[in-house]
Amino acid sequence: MVSRVIPVEPFDLVVFGGTGDLARRKILPGLFRRFLAGQMPPEARVIGAARAAMDDAAYRAFAAEAIAETAGGGDGPAARAAFLERLGYVAVDAAGTLGWDELGRRLRPGVVRACYFSVAPALFGALAERLQAHSLAGPDTRIVVEKPFGHDRASARALNATLALHFGEGQIYRIDHYLGKETVQNLMAVRFANILFEPLWNARFVDHVQITVAETVGVAGRGAYYDQAGAMRDMVQNHLMQLICLIAMEPPHRFEPDAVRDEKLKVIRALDPLAPGDVVRGQYGAGAGVASYRADADNPASDTESFVAMRVRISNWRWKGTPFYLRTGKRLRARASEIAIAFREPPHAIFDQQEGWKENVLSIRLQPNEGINLRVMIKEPGPGGMRLTDVPLDMSFATALGANGADIPDAYERLIMDVIRGNQTLFMRGDEVEAAWAWTDPAIAAWQAAGDRPRPYDPGSSGPEDALMLMHRDGRRWRDIRE
Ligand code: BG6
Repeated sequence: MVSRVIPVEPFDLVVFGGTGDLARRKILPGLFRRFLAGQMPPEARVIGAARAAMDDAAYRAFAAEAIAETAGGGDGPAARAAFLERLGYVAVDAAGTLGWDELGRRLRPGVVRACYFSVAPALFGALAERLQAHSLAGPDTRIVVEKPFGHDRASARALNATLALHFGEGQIYRIDHYLGKETVQNLMAVRFANILFEPLWNARFVDHVQITVAETVGVAGRGAYYDQAGAMRDMVQNHLMQLICLIAMEPPHRFEPDAVRDEKLKVIRALDPLAPGDVVRGQYGAGAGVASYRADADNPASDTESFVAMRVRISNWRWKGTPFYLRTGKRLRARASEIAIAFREPPHAIFDQQEGWKENVLSIRLQPNEGINLRVMIKEPGPGGMRLTDVPLDMSFATALGANGADIPDAYERLIMDVIRGNQTLFMRGDEVEAAWAWTDPAIAAWQAAGDRPRPYDPGSSGPEDALMLMHRDGRRWRDIRE
């Protein structure tokens, strides 16, 4: 299957924080892959902007290194050179006067203009203000804002208000890179482009939903940020919340930015407050060859969670009575993210031999080995009577889609192209972010007030024992975490 690539309009993309980690790991390599695919037109320009003194040539060398680290072959030196030619650099002080005039000289009229704020959140406001003060932003200029978008509802609100002083909501692209993942978008395709699942997609037929986002990495190297955030703020408030929304939302009337975001917002507003007994926090200890969380975070007394599991309830017509179990953590057994929809038992058993019965489960594998699997009951082959067994109907995207299935674009590639296209569907609206914080804030406040301490767990495990109990006491169990 050959994927269609439609080039975007010519653009100037300014990457503030252009020498930073995100630019090196994601933005520049992602743009390069879009260039190779023919989606980034030859007239497009990327301008790195940061405090460091550097010229265009040095920035191109920086980008060449970044590409060499991450791009997976298939391109020749000529393609790399052609891409690098489209890169430039301006030394800019986000909070001062340095570089703004020069930046203004580099920007071209008549092309799409986008500014990526890949900088510390404390600078978002200053950048927005400077862009306007130097007349570098028109009514169609877009700004891209990275997470964390605030630390709680009050700070997110303040940030929204600051950005709103300088840019309209239609110009602000708040990134949650989970929305750019192919398989996350596939959730919507599976739900709304098939008649098969939607009639069963409610509390009458769905027993429970499990969402797991497990990582093997620890927090070494970013402990200073992470120790202030923890899994709740780092993963649940944004990425897992988005997954809940896409699973639980009503069908939007069209696949359009506000139609989709309105439906997601309704889900967030329908979430029941988390009761203390619905949340288990964990923190990894030291293991063979790996340091403990506290050592990684360089905080020997830290009570920050590197793991969290929870039972979430949605109080609306569709989902009342179907719990959503979520867990996410660092240093777990495997890097594996999936969503599993576990269906209820058939209302009546007609077969005598029912011991082998297992619930139907639709699992959507987000990463790695992206694909969809449906567990169904069938007759066990052979003449020995009507015995039942469960088999997977397995669709690996890599197998089903051939070469294109294996070559799944990185979330950032897709999202940056959406910014240029002016499509906000896969970006969070300001009210959505505030609503998500409004749900997480009281849970965090409750465990802080109670002096809750995270349960220790071993690196390479499935998290603390109490997380298993969270489901066991409901007569259910987590699926294995495996690649
Ligand atoms: C980031 C978090 O937003 O997402 C990280 O800050 C986390 O802590 C990462 O590791 C996970 O992203 P992915 O794409 O690797 O699942």
